Amino acid sequence: METFKELFEETLKDIYYAEKAILKALPKMAKKASSKKLQTAFTKHQKETEKQVDRLEQVFELLGKRASGKKCPAIDGIIEEGEEVMKEAKDDTIRDAAMLAAAQSVEHYEISRYGTLVAWAEKMEMSDAAELLQATLDEEKATDEALTGLAESEINVEAEETDEGEEERPKRRAAGRR
Ligand SMILES: [Fe+2]
Ligand SMILES: [Fe+2]
Repeated sequence: METFKELFEETLKDIYYAEKAILKALPKMAKKASSKKLQTAFTKHQKETEKQVDRLEQVFELLGKRASGKKCPAIDGIIEEGEEVMKEAKDDTIRDAAMLAAAQSVEHYEISRYGTLVAWAEKMEMSDAAELLQATLDEEKATDEALTGLAESEINVEAEETDEGEEERPKRRAAGRR
């Protein structure tokens, strides 16, 4: 990697790989969500993510390159951690809270990547690429805010109520569940 353009392209490959990994993870998360609102949020973002992959392919085209991904250990780790807590959570509302937190860490990773890519595209005076990347950045930020809203209004509140319930019914779900 010698030029700024090459660095840009490498980062594009990183986020392309990440988006594809997210595209695989989101349906699983939607399926496991017990809150309808959380499920809707995941499904909605899955559709957005499909469009985001398209946008990245357009940016590759603007560079005169074929779209390709490069293994991104950061996103693999974030998703893996999310899957782990999903498995470990023995209560639906706790699982929802865990998935919501995992989803937010994914969004934050994406926001940092797209923020950088927009800035670099602008620096290289690739305004069409900057516009495409900015459209995705806006969606990632909106998703993050929607998830924060859910956390504050519903998911974490219910998860906490579960704790209060547990005190009255200590061994309620202690056995027989994964
Ligand atoms: Fe995305
Ligand atoms: Fe996202």
